[in-house]
Amino acid sequence: MLGTVQFGLLAACVVLFVPMGMAGWHLSRNKVLFFSGALFITLAIGVHLTPYFPSVSDFVTSVSSSSSSNSVNVVVDDRDACVSLLHEIDWEVKPKRDFDPLNNNSMNYDKFWSWRRSTSVDSCEFQRLKKHDVMDLLNGSWIMVAGDSQSRIFALSLLTLVLDSKRLETVRESLFKRHSNYHIVVDEIGMKLDFIWAPYTTNLTNVVMDYKQNRVYPDILVMGSGLWHMLHITNASDYGASLLMLKSSLTSLLPITPDFSTDGPVTGSVSVRSPHLFWLAMPTLVNSMLNTPEKKEKMNNLMSGEYERELQSSNMLRQFGGPFQLLDIGSLSWSCGIRCTDDGMHYDGVVYEAGVHIMLNALLIESHQKL
Ligand SMILES: *[C@@H]1O[C@H](CO)[C@@H](O)[C@H](O)[C@H]1NC(C)=O
Ligand SMILES: *[C@@H]1O[C@H](CO)[C@@H](O)[C@H](O)[C@H]1NC(C)=O
Ligand SMILES: *[C@@H]1O[C@H](CO)[C@@H](O)[C@H](O)[C@H]1NC(C)=O
Ligand SMILES: *[C@@H]1O[C@H](CO)[C@@H](O)[C@H](O)[C@H]1NC(C)=O
Repeated sequence: MLGTVQFGLLAACVVLFVPMGMAGWHLSRNKVLFFSGALFITLAIGVHLTPYFPSVSDFVTSVSSSSSSNSVNVVVDDRDACVSLLHEIDWEVKPKRDFDPLNNNSMNYDKFWSWRRSTSVDSCEFQRLKKHDVMDLLNGSWIMVAGDSQSRIFALSLLTLVLDSKRLETVRESLFKRHSNYHIVVDEIGMKLDFIWAPYTTNLTNVVMDYKQNRVYPDILVMGSGLWHMLHITNASDYGASLLMLKSSLTSLLPITPDFSTDGPVTGSVSVRSPHLFWLAMPTLVNSMLNTPEKKEKMNNLMSGEYERELQSSNMLRQFGGPFQLLDIGSLSWSCGIRCTDDGMHYDGVVYEAGVHIMLNALLIESHQKL
């Protein structure tokens, strides 16, 4: 039965997509955006009418991958091109004016990041969102960040964009209680953020299973794992197997029919869609700076290379046909460099801040918005 429904919707979509793509080919960007808006509304109505339809975004993904391969659809190509350029970020790292040569830790350096200037990157018009824009975008959203300490810093960087400094200080204290969960509601914009301490991939799988049980899903789900596994289990193929389990639990449970309750489509621009999934990749490890002999031994370059390959071959990531959009802390931390870390593993907030802006721009692209 589901097969029939899926086929029907796929057919409807082809009917919609193909003429749009052809018409859109010579249309201005705004018109193309308008068409994609129309498509989205159609999809939303489709979801209302077929409450048991298993997977909106599977369906969107399958359409986008089939249409981008023969480049029938301009919108999708354009979006994919920009998504692939999101990590084109350059860093400027220089000593602070009051540089202390006796204590040359990362605090001694100022860091600035910006998107690389090039015609293709410029044409995507990425932007560092201001507080007001972030609040607009995340208005009414439920964000869940699950993982290890990297995820914790990422959550803090996100909150930095929406909270005032006083509130941020209290958040910082409670968020960094070791190995604990954290929940906050930002009343002004009805935004919820949950941080779930889940250092291993199996913990992430459990988080997903809990959603299944409770039948509630966040709008934005950011996950990441690997460092704990590398240090305590040190077995890349086992890590790969755990990723496959996470992936299959996700694809069977998510993407789900989003909860279009009462005022769904009118509020926050992000909240009306099925969950947006982001994978927070492991940072670049600077072996000589790791702070215990055990870490130096187990978390070596060879091992982190193997872990990275497992992530790729698990096909978790969008670029390999999987559910997660990559937030590549590995490349951001690598390009920021050793002056951006003190322990060779946790990087300065600014690295994760860049990751947050990448995520926000990805959300803008996905929801076809310009500010
Ligand atoms: C959030 O959305 C609500 C409902 O649409 C709106 O009334 C409110 O002004 C928005 N707040 C911000 C900060 O954008
Ligand atoms: C995470 O998983 C590990 C190993 O499976 C388990 O020992 C640990 O209790 C879990 N932690 C949490 C916070 O669920
Ligand atoms: C690594 O993990 C795999 C899969 O779980 C297992 O088959 C293998 O024996 C493990 N290797 C070592 C050296 O423990
Ligand atoms: C700090 O200083 C030491 C010795 O001068 C040097 O070897 C090291 O590379 C410096 N570290 C950073 C992060 O600049």
